[in-house]
Amino acid sequence: MRLIYGAPRVVRFFENVLGESRFDKTCSEYTSLLIVSPGIILFVKRVCKRQSAFTTLSECLKILILSPSRAFGTAQYLKFMALILGLETSCDETAAAIVRDGRTVLASELNSQTDIHRKYGGVVPEVAARYHLESVNEVIDLALDKAGVGIHELDAIACTQGPGLVGTLLVGLSAAKAISWVTQKPLLAVDHLYAHICANYIDTDLSPPFICLLVSGGHSQVIHVKAHREWLILGETLDDAAGEAYDKVARLLGLGYPGGPQIDKVARDGDSRAFKFPEGAVKGYDFSFSGLKTAVLRTVEKLEQPLPVGDLAASFQDAVNRVLFRKTHQAAKELGVSKIVLAGGVAANSDLRKRFTQLSEESEIKVFMPALKYCTDNAAMVASCAHFAGVEAGLDCMAYSRQP
Ligand code: KG4
Ligand code: ZN
Repeated sequence: MRLIYGAPRVVRFFENVLGESRFDKTCSEYTSLLIVSPGIILFVKRVCKRQSAFTTLSECLKILILSPSRAFGTAQYLKFMALILGLETSCDETAAAIVRDGRTVLASELNSQTDIHRKYGGVVPEVAARYHLESVNEVIDLALDKAGVGIHELDAIACTQGPGLVGTLLVGLSAAKAISWVTQKPLLAVDHLYAHICANYIDTDLSPPFICLLVSGGHSQVIHVKAHREWLILGETLDDAAGEAYDKVARLLGLGYPGGPQIDKVARDGDSRAFKFPEGAVKGYDFSFSGLKTAVLRTVEKLEQPLPVGDLAASFQDAVNRVLFRKTHQAAKELGVSKIVLAGGVAANSDLRKRFTQLSEESEIKVFMPALKYCTDNAAMVASCAHFAGVEAGLDCMAYSRQP
């Protein structure tokens, strides 16, 4: 037991109640108290002042035991979560990372199963869960080794709770729970989609408010992030997600799995004006990509072999990116927000990045996009998200496949 701050009277009380303790500093004017035990970090707000949150020490203790984050306020509480181990197993990447203060990555390790699932043309959930189980401990060890951090030095353990494949999520979550239990450090649950957005905090000074274009294999959304825990979805796809459309069209063109990076590659040698594909006429900030996918299919059916794959890929990519860019830019202009943030696997697309880079050069809008390795699934974004907006979870917390 270690008492760091506290008024002498309070420190003495906790010494008596909780056994051996040592305090580094006492200050009678200090309004909050931080107690660090091997597992619990407890905060007390204003113990004996007029505006005290708690009037008696026994009342303090009761609330502390119930929930440290409730006693101190979650945002304040998370500030003390400096060194976080993040785990990500929502789909086919087993990932672990150590991140300091939500922005500095000490290690980010990843074991990709892409080669295993390629022969099936997509992720097979049971197979994915099995491989996560085989590699999760190794990936965690690698991350800790690389960062030069022991598990007992961690301030918290963060893990993706959902959305994703429940069978694969449970592997990461169980590992996180075990480490949290052994080290007695808090378990912070993270939403996968919000973690993608938080990849933009890595190595930058970004802070809300901003408009985010979140484009992954399962989601396409334009989001107004007003504060760390406050956001509004302005628009989203009515059918296929952008990444899903990339993957389906890639399969149609015989480009293999995963399709997004393949289309990105072959489109570089293609003519984006060779075919006129529809953008998907949807009002507001919503998208629709299923019509575009069908249009590519109909065109391919009429063409003779060999297909002009480069031209088809470039024309399809242009139609998707054009609408993604236009609606995101429109949201920033209409809401008077000066920062745009890209997130998710499709944010790795070179043409999309070029469009937004050009926008930042030609306007007042500041554009943020994660480094390529932090666009697709990784654990650094999970640890970063936990630092800024993690939710303290119990060991009984469950994985979820869709956002609640
Ligand atoms: O965010 P992510 O890794 O996983 C999900 O949470 O879904 O996104 C994966 C998606 C896949 O559909 C993949 O084809 C797409 O991102 N993707 C790309 C590129 N790299 C990955 N799409 C277009 N261009 C890319 N360079
Ligand atoms: Zn993802």
